[in-house]
Amino acid sequence: MPSELRTLQPEPDLAFVRSATELKPVPFVPEVRLHMAEDAIALWETTERARGEVGLPPPFWAFAWAGGVAVSRHLLDHPELVAGRTVLDVAAGSGVVGVAAALCGARSVYAAEIDAYAVAAIGLNARANGVRVEAALVDLVDGDGAPADVVLAGDVFYEREMAARFLPFLERAAARGATVVVGDPGRAYLPRDRFTALADYRVPVVADLEDTAVKTTTVWRLG
Ligand SMILES: C[S@@+](CC[C@H](N)C(=O)[O-])C[C@H]1O[C@@H](n2cnc3c(N)ncnc32)[C@H](O)[C@@H]1O
Repeated sequence: MPSELRTLQPEPDLAFVRSATELKPVPFVPEVRLHMAEDAIALWETTERARGEVGLPPPFWAFAWAGGVAVSRHLLDHPELVAGRTVLDVAAGSGVVGVAAALCGARSVYAAEIDAYAVAAIGLNARANGVRVEAALVDLVDGDGAPADVVLAGDVFYEREMAARFLPFLERAAARGATVVVGDPGRAYLPRDRFTALADYRVPVVADLEDTAVKTTTVWRLG
């Protein structure tokens, strides 16, 4: 991975994640256990109080999102996609995808996030599953994900601006030969015509976050 990737998991962030969550199996992917929260809004408010700031991003790291759950399910059912390969889980959130890749026998797994609490959560979640995932507070999206052989992204097409950065990033990764796989539960900004569907899953989701109990979620391969 690029030399600028630096792991940063300060003890206060680890303590905050531990205190705000409970370690439990992920619905639909029970092979993976994560530190997860029950109440997104309450945790969001708690996070802003803890940081002494308002306008922070939601605590994405405290939940496994449908896209990540679907990619994780797909990997665990098809471990040959990542076994023995170098994997990047970009926009990793809780790290559910990276942990699943590591459980499937990936040679090494890197997780990139721009939220320090997510980096802390990924570290705790990797440890809880007995695997190694190198999590870093870094925005790699202007690059091409090198040298990862496989670039994985769960649920990154939910905002127009984010999608406008992630699509070219994923295309650069694919153009240099990486396998690029994303999971998406029908978000508005996924350009479906650029992808090939690998599988559909009916993923149970947190009703407070998604306004429904189940979301049909597709695992796509770029190109
Ligand atoms: C909906 S969550 C998905 C998390 C995880 N992949 C999953 O499926 O559960 C999107 C995540 O993208 C992260 N993110 C947004 N822009 C990013 C960037 N440029 N680089 C890395 N992470 C980013 C956010 O912090 C957030 O945790």
